[in-house]
Amino acid sequence: MQNNRLVICCVTILCVTVGLLMFDGVKAYLNESPTLADTNIPLPGSKASDVSDTTASNSSPVVDTAQHIRRAYVDPSIPIQPILPIENIDRAKAKIGWRLFKDPNLSSNKQVSCESCHNLQTNGAEQIPVSVGVNGVGLRNSLTIFNAMNNYRLFWDGRVNTLEEQLEGPIHNPVEMDSSWEDIHQYVASSKLYRQLFAEANLDITVHTIKSALVEFENTLTTLDAPFDLYLYGQEDAISDSAKRGWFAFQSEGCIACHQGPNVGGGLVMRFGYFGQDKTGSERSSDLGRFATTSKPEDRHLFRVASLRNVADTAPYFHDGQTQHLSEAIRIMGKSQLGKDLDDKTVDDIQQFLITLSGKRPSILEEFENE
Ligand code: HEC
Ligand code: HEC
Repeated sequence: MQNNRLVICCVTILCVTVGLLMFDGVKAYLNESPTLADTNIPLPGSKASDVSDTTASNSSPVVDTAQHIRRAYVDPSIPIQPILPIENIDRAKAKIGWRLFKDPNLSSNKQVSCESCHNLQTNGAEQIPVSVGVNGVGLRNSLTIFNAMNNYRLFWDGRVNTLEEQLEGPIHNPVEMDSSWEDIHQYVASSKLYRQLFAEANLDITVHTIKSALVEFENTLTTLDAPFDLYLYGQEDAISDSAKRGWFAFQSEGCIACHQGPNVGGGLVMRFGYFGQDKTGSERSSDLGRFATTSKPEDRHLFRVASLRNVADTAPYFHDGQTQHLSEAIRIMGKSQLGKDLDDKTVDDIQQFLITLSGKRPSILEEFENE
């Protein structure tokens, strides 16, 4: 008798659990798969096969719709996805990160802030070939921090995968901030301004919260609404005919094999100088890329595929910052990564396409500046 009851009880619990799981699954499926048939918003005209049809439809109302609704209408088979707005940001925490980012007192000589090399007024990077920090000149061109949170790998050689790990680089590097978390913690904990900001954000001042405030701030730095993203959302006239030809060439020539994802790069690590060493690899600089971290012979000249978001605004180019013009960078890529001498018209079209990858300055910066 006792046993029978136990069996019935177990079977009932099992049925309810399976039922609930199925209900949840169906709900998630329905939520995540809105179909285009539910709406009369036009399909984005951005597939390679459509690109030659440059006379196609006029602007669509999609652009005025909320970002999170628009995202559902982007064709997932296109290997470049729009930059999405950030969600669930702890604003008070991000604001502490903004202060810390701009604060030269975090460095050993109290003169170098993160912003010294990552200009928040312009492009999130700097205009000189290689960065200058506390103890002189570094080895590499500074990377933009705009959209960095979308990069699967970080640094020119892709040696770390998270913004938290990345932070250890600049803080300790003698040619960057030459500092330590103990010193930074001591300084922040004794500052009246930071004590107030941390209290407002309901946070204790610890090394962990200092780091996570910096990361929270970095997570807000998306550059939305690049013309190419509007085009992906279905606004045909957001980019010129030349840029559309460039987008087509970017795919047909093979750039897309490496530069893809929301950041049009930032995910893979590849040899710089696949086809010969013309102004690439060892002829370009003594920088051995990933080899410097791993010491594996096969890692010589391996670099992260650069993100091409806002690339028109982040000259000079490549890890050594030795290439001034975007057109030259495109030519070098054609030769070294694809073994092709791209003709002038193709280079120009690709350049027009790359220009459409520049988005708006992160809006939170202006908000913080005006508060
Ligand atoms: C002295 C100049 C300098 C300072 C100061 C500096 N950086 Fe950088 N930053 C660089 C350079 C150069 C690189 C690329 C280095 C490399 O790839 O080896 C870089 C790379 C990065 C990246 C990686 C971006 C990507 O797409 O991979 C992030 C994120 C970043 N820095 C954030 C910060 C933060 C946060 C601070 C302050 C705590 C800071 N930086 C201070 C010069 C600097
Ligand atoms: C085999 C992979 C691969 C292919 C194909 C490729 N790239 Fe790259 N690209 C890279 C790597 C790796 C880097 C970073 C090089 C470095 O470390 O300096 C890069 C960097 C760039 C940069 C410099 C970005 C910056 O901020 O300095 C541009 C511009 C660029 N690529 C455009 C293109 C174009 C246009 C094509 C097609 C003609 C193309 N790439 C094809 C791997 C590739």
